[in-house]
Amino acid sequence: MSYLLALDQGTTSSRSILFDQEGKVVASAQYPIHITTPYAGWVEQDAEELWLSQLQTIRDVLKKGDITVSDIKAIGIANQRETTVVWHRKTGKPIAPAIVWQDRRTSVVCQQLHDKGHSAHIQHITGLMIDPYFSASKLMWILDAIPQARELAEKGELAFGTIDSWLIWNLTQGGIHVTDVSNASRTMLMDIHQQEWSLPLLSLFKIPISLLPSIVPSGQEIAYTDTALFGTRIPIFAAVGDQQASLFGHDCHQAGLAKNTYGTGCFMLLNTGDQVIKSRHQLLSTVAWKQKGKPTQYALEGSVFMAGAIVQWLRDNLGFIKESAEVESLAAQVDHTDGVVLVPAFTGLGAPYWRADALASISGLSRGTQKAHIARAALEAIAFQVADVLHAMQQDAPTPLTELRVDGGASANNLLMQFQADILGVPVLRPTLTETTAFGAVKLAGLSCGFFTESDLSSMWQLDRCFEPVMSEDERMNRLSLWKKAVHRVLSE
Ligand code: G3P
Repeated sequence: MSYLLALDQGTTSSRSILFDQEGKVVASAQYPIHITTPYAGWVEQDAEELWLSQLQTIRDVLKKGDITVSDIKAIGIANQRETTVVWHRKTGKPIAPAIVWQDRRTSVVCQQLHDKGHSAHIQHITGLMIDPYFSASKLMWILDAIPQARELAEKGELAFGTIDSWLIWNLTQGGIHVTDVSNASRTMLMDIHQQEWSLPLLSLFKIPISLLPSIVPSGQEIAYTDTALFGTRIPIFAAVGDQQASLFGHDCHQAGLAKNTYGTGCFMLLNTGDQVIKSRHQLLSTVAWKQKGKPTQYALEGSVFMAGAIVQWLRDNLGFIKESAEVESLAAQVDHTDGVVLVPAFTGLGAPYWRADALASISGLSRGTQKAHIARAALEAIAFQVADVLHAMQQDAPTPLTELRVDGGASANNLLMQFQADILGVPVLRPTLTETTAFGAVKLAGLSCGFFTESDLSSMWQLDRCFEPVMSEDERMNRLSLWKKAVHRVLSE
């Protein structure tokens, strides 16, 4: 038997999943990842932990699947995007903690760039809105704040990478320093039209080019793992940002198809084919993927920073539930929020508002408010944020969106999915396999190495449940208007 191995390095866990030729999961292994928040707005991870936990999941999955290394035809990597690592080229040791995509420490620098009038220019080159979310200002911060970093960088002794780059560097034991074009498009340093590092932006952010990895297609023969790791070499045939991987996993291969992933945050991507569509409604234009020999595919993206993380907050900070899955039954104890609205700006607000300084709020509390009302408001907040993004996308997209494919942990929550369909007014489609991110990475790898053909892929996405909208138009408008009012209060504070 032959298999494909997906490495899914996310914000909350490192996972490896082994797929067979029919696209079925044979074995999987997962380790949680620690996050530290040393100061308000700072979010860090230990880059060594990211790599070592990922390595351990590969070893575990080989054991669980009881397979030999040579049975693995290719690795496909999907990873949390934007998170920034800088390491010594000689020792391979990081010079600082990884700065996670959620980190807001560079808000002031980003605001200054915005105030100096760089927004339109940066959006034109990169497709992105100026925000601490992306890697550029995080990398600049490391070079300025870590002693000797800039000096070493200028001497060519340091390397920068997002997590795809960091994993490939370690899998090849320092042999290969590359990043795929979808991950590079999230740094705010790449020209998405040319798919090359932008010299004017490197100069604006004061980044020496010697730090940067080479940009490669997402689907091609990228590298081979070092023999010392698994006894024999395994080819890496795909590397792609996790949200783009999920778009691929949902078979959204044509322009006009969209998906939303309910993970730590929510990420809605709409395939726009080989055209960069410039958003006029505060969304991002981004690279979806590039397969060797084919034109680069692009997407419009709405990134929402808090989704599953709101449920974690109910669990860990408020102690409302013991397990995240309990939120559905708690919220179902009431059939409305009794006027409670939660605006989850715990790490600012992302698309379409882009307000790094916004603070979260709960409004509409009364003497009768119960935990269940707040839990329901928390779930509804996830759906309202997705609705804001979809409405912006409807206005930017050349064709209307007629359905939304979903995945990620919270897509298992039926109450949330029904409310999502109701508040969007379009059907929400959940597939049987919700490991869409990992699946997307192996589909891309499988196509690149000839393990899959296009026609093999066409039968692999299967519908589990379609949630049709049932809410009346009046009710939808009322609910959206209450949400908008609450958001505007937060934005005007
Ligand atoms: O842009 C951030 C995103 O890639 C994080 O994804 O699934 O690790 O929360 P996830």
